[in-house]
Order: sequence, then C-alpha cells, then structure tokens
Amino acid sequence: MSAPLLELRQLAKSFGGARALRGVDFDLRAGEVHALLGENGAGKSTLIKIVTGAHQPDTGTITVGGTRVADLTPATARALGIACIYQQPALFPDLTVAENIALRLESGGTLRRLDWTTRTQRAQELLQRVGARIAPSAEVRQLSMPEQQLVEIACALGAGARIVIMDEPTASLTQTEQHLLFAVVRELRKSGVGVIYISHRLEEIFALADRVTVLRDGESVGTHAVTAMDEAGLIRLMVGREVKQLYPPSESAPGETVLALRAVGCTASGVRDVTLELRAGEILGLAGLVGAGRTELARVLFGLTPADAGEITLRGERVTLRSPQDAVARGIAYVPEDRRRHGVVLEMPIEENMTMAIHRRIFRGAWLRFAAERSLALEFIRDLAVKCSGPTAVGGSLSGGNQQKISLARWLATKPRLLILDEPTQGVDVGAKSEIHKIIRRLAKEGLAVLLISSDLPEVLGMCDRIGVMRGGKLCAILPGKSDPHAVMAAALGTAEKGAV
Ligand SMILES: Nc1ncnc2c1ncn2[C@@H]1O[C@H](COP(=O)(O)OP(=O)(O)OP(=O)(O)O)[C@@H](O)[C@H]1O
Ligand SMILES: [Mg+2]
Repeated sequence: MSAPLLELRQLAKSFGGARALRGVDFDLRAGEVHALLGENGAGKSTLIKIVTGAHQPDTGTITVGGTRVADLTPATARALGIACIYQQPALFPDLTVAENIALRLESGGTLRRLDWTTRTQRAQELLQRVGARIAPSAEVRQLSMPEQQLVEIACALGAGARIVIMDEPTASLTQTEQHLLFAVVRELRKSGVGVIYISHRLEEIFALADRVTVLRDGESVGTHAVTAMDEAGLIRLMVGREVKQLYPPSESAPGETVLALRAVGCTASGVRDVTLELRAGEILGLAGLVGAGRTELARVLFGLTPADAGEITLRGERVTLRSPQDAVARGIAYVPEDRRRHGVVLEMPIEENMTMAIHRRIFRGAWLRFAAERSLALEFIRDLAVKCSGPTAVGGSLSGGNQQKISLARWLATKPRLLILDEPTQGVDVGAKSEIHKIIRRLAKEGLAVLLISSDLPEVLGMCDRIGVMRGGKLCAILPGKSDPHAVMAAALGTAEKGAV
C-alpha cells in the first residue's frame, strides 16, 4: 500500500503547565474518512491546529505523503494540500462567492491570475462538485452558515486539497443540510481525499467514518475500524468507564403557571401568533427545523427583540419585556445558542465568567464576594466536569465544549424562575451531556420552568414533558413528551395535521 497521506508519531504539546497532547499516534489514508473522537478537552482541536500549522508541537513527528515535515506553518500546510473546514467559515461577507474563491485560490501566487469569466466558470464547477446550488455571483453575507461551509469545501477542492479536516461541522446544521454535507464527504472520499472528521455525535461517526481514533487526556488510546465497534465500546474507550445514556425520569408534578403567551408575535423576527403555557417544574421542548423561529421566540421572551403583538403573562402578571434587563429582573434566564461567539469572555477567569450574571447578588464585602464566587465556581466545575487547571484559568484556555459548560453555568447561577436553553448540549461530550440533563431535571424538580430548544430529537423526546413544534415562526403543534419521533418530524416539516394546542 502507498504511504499514508498523513502520519503523526508521538505528538506532544503543552500550554504552560497544561499538557494538551502527550503522545498521539495517528495516520490518515487516501480515500478514507477517519473520525477523531474524545471528551471535551481531550485534545482534538489541538491536534488539528498542529496539522494545519497553527501550533508547533513540542515533540513528535509529522509525515505528509511519506515525507517528514518540520516546522509546519499555515502556508506550508496549505501548499501540502491540507485544508480545514471550520464551523464558522472565514469568508469575506461583502464579496461574492466567486470573488472569495478567486481570492483563496490565487492569493498564494501559485495560480495565474484569471479573467472574470474564467473565475466565474471555475467557481461554478467547484460549487457543482460539492453539490451546492449557489450562484457564484451571490454575496457571501446572503448565504446561510452551511452554504458558506460548502463554499469553504469548494475552495479546498479548488486548491487541490488531499487532506480535508472538519472540526464539528454539523453542530449547527439541519438534517437536510447534514445529509448534503455527508454526500459531499462521501464524494471527497471517492476522489481519494482523506477526511479527518471530528464530532461528538456517535451516530454520525457510524454513518460516515471508516476508521476512528479515540483520544483520552491527550493520548491516542486506539484506532479501530468503525465496523468493529459499537456505541458502548466507543464510549468506554473515550471516557474510560461506562456511561449510560439514559434520560433522567420526570419526577416533578407541574405547579403554578409561570409563563403564559397569548397570540404573541414580533414582526421584526417573524414570530407569529404563539400561544402556550409553561408551568413550574415543567420542561417544555421546542422542536423544529433550524430557522423555524425557535431562537427568535426565545429572543422575544428575553426582551432582545420585544414582542409587538399579543400578551405575555409571568406568574399571573401581564408584563412587557423590552430588554434583557426587564427579563432578568423578572427571573428569566436565557442561555443562547452559538456560545462560542457570544458566551465566554476569553480573557476573564473562569470563576468570573461563571458569576458575572449574578455579581450584584453576591453580597457586599469584597472578600465575602470572592469566597462566594470561588465556592460557586468550584461547585460548577465539579458538577459539569469542566476540564481546566482551576477556577482562575482564563476562558480562552478551555476547549470548545468546556467553554459551553461555563456559559451554561453562568445562567444556572442566576437561579431563574424561567430558564430558556438554546441547544444546551451542542458540542459537549456524552458524559457532560448526561450531567447537563441531570442538572436540567434537578432544576425542574426545584420548581423552575424550562423551555428547552434542541435540534437533538432524542434529547427533546427524552427530556421534555411536552413538545412544542415550530414552523415558519408559528407554534404549529404541542405534542406530549413521549411522542413518536416521526410525529415530531412530520409536524416540523408540515406534513402532519395540526396537533392539539
Ligand atoms: N491556548 C491554550 N492555552 C491553554 N490551554 C489550552 C489552550 N488550548 C487548549 N488548551 C487545553 O488543551 C486541552 C485540549 O484542548 P482541545 O481544544 O484540543 O480539546 P478538544 O478535544 O478539541 O475539546 P472539545 O471537544 O471541547 O472541543 C484542554 O485541556 C484545553 O484547556
Ligand atoms: Mg475542540
């Protein structure tokens, strides 16, 4: 067999005292999808950053196409055919798709400058190869996130990439977009490209990958053919113990009505005519396709885009929520989606990140405050299994999934009456996911009303007492918690009769 596309031997990397990688072996063959799996903080992104030349390893060797490479830089990595597709694509929003592709492909000076007809044609061809129905003349700012990802993949293909890396590419994709992406990945594999695929969703790994390498605490603990593994086996390798993915049972009888909406709408964000009730101790799920209006409704309830129609009642009192301050004052907490961009202050210590939403409430005296802040932070670090060197480490030193846990903790610390969670377990590993589920359950049992937005259908079905389904800005059905997944999907797609609202 020919040399592997990429071979890593005993790669190690520390940040200050923290050892992110300590002896990783990995190889990638032409025409395979090789999944990289591991808990939050296991070292996946660090490994990728080394392969793309963003970080230098402390020790270990990198071999690309049979040739040892020392001092890999982003430019040499690109020249060697290594491309990384990020979850947040890095395109120029004001330029067209064709302009972006041209910039990317011609900036290295390797390609002859082309005229615009040729550029547009080339963009068209590349977009077709990735199955994207996007006009080369479209401005990037008008494209959805997944469309931008496809443009990134088109750029990678155009640059002749042989090694394509995807770090949690599906985290914010709908099912349809996910299927499209999978088709593209399979095309890449067929054409001999090697794909490194990172995801916390095991079902994706089984659907897509040929082999899987598991990282634990910065070490590779094994590479296996996916067909030789099952879910429990992978989890055991990853966590080093059994994790049961059982959803904690509902134990609380719903209490008083916390939130009541009557024909609530917001013209600016397209939310229309939403009527629902949510009681203390209840977890109400919001299912629907991405863009169905779930996040928009959450933003209305948090006063970010105030309602301009209907009535909002909180514990029997009619209210107007014009700003997040209004919402917080009335006991509403909102953990937004896309916490990687909005969640964590990278320069700020973890403990301050966790308590910044409650600073006014953590007493007067500075010392008392420090003590309270510290003990609260330690509690959350333990409960959510945040992998960090301690409560004083800065937010930016955490892995992606651990940053998400921090922003979740921040809002949990406010002890709200109504907690709105937008995709709370996206990007967190299986162990932490079940911890977060337990915490949500516990909060409901303590009398919180929870609105849980999630695109993870098993999570919605497993966690929620009732499931509201949104479509086109409207609440189109409310189904009981133990519904059939097909019923939820049918309602979300609009192929079902109206449920009992
Ligand atoms: N710039 C940095 N400074 C200090 N520590 C860092 C830095 N980058 C990463 N680390 C640490 O290295 C370890 C590995 O992080 P990495 O981001 O590679 O994890 P990951 O496997 O990608 O996790 P996730 O699934 O959460 O994205 C973590 O403990 C993290 O805190
Ligand atoms: Mg990561």
